[in-house]
Amino acid sequence: MSIMAHTDAALREQFLQGMSRVASTVTVVTTAGDAGTQGVTVSAMSSVSADGERPTLLVCVHHRSAAAEAIRNNGRFAVNILRAEEATVSDHFAGRLRREDGDKFACTDWEAGPTGQPHIAGALAAFDCVLLSEQRIGTHHLFIGGVEELYLGESGDPLIYSNRQYGRPASIQ
Ligand SMILES: Cc1cc2nc3c(=O)[nH]c(=O)nc-3n(C[C@H](O)[C@H](O)[C@H](O)COP(=O)(O)O)c2cc1C
Repeated sequence: MSIMAHTDAALREQFLQGMSRVASTVTVVTTAGDAGTQGVTVSAMSSVSADGERPTLLVCVHHRSAAAEAIRNNGRFAVNILRAEEATVSDHFAGRLRREDGDKFACTDWEAGPTGQPHIAGALAAFDCVLLSEQRIGTHHLFIGGVEELYLGESGDPLIYSNRQYGRPASIQ
């Protein structure tokens, strides 16, 4: 291993290449309220803590995404963990697939969670959050959600994104 000087562009490219080797769960982060209903595909999601006043999680959403502004103004969001069978839902909420009517939400069935946030019907898991804190780092908003309610659907495999493609977890034992 060598430590080299990089131009910003080269470092960015290496960063993206390094991150392509990470395996991430794919989620659709949704929000509903006075600021409207929006959703976006997000792999930058992490548990923060199960303890404290309530459990907390983190999602990172690009500032240009309509969902970012809506989350800030609605003060609530839900994190839907996609199933391995839901790659097309991910593609719709990432803008890779588009319906003629432009309605991303029409790509699957929805239920309103207990605080009114959109849950995918039968989701592997959906976390209903109140927005506790946010910070802008470069291009992205970091949203910390306090989990208020949780929906757990039938067990199954989560959708994974790694090496710039979708997959599912494989057991090694
Ligand atoms: C697998 C996958 C993971 C993604 N993860 C993120 C993410 O963590 N944060 C983010 O802001 N965008 C992420 N994106 C990109 C957004 O989903 C994409 O830019 C989307 O079109 C933004 O929608 P909008 O501009 O219509 O709101 C991801 C896309 C894919 C396919």
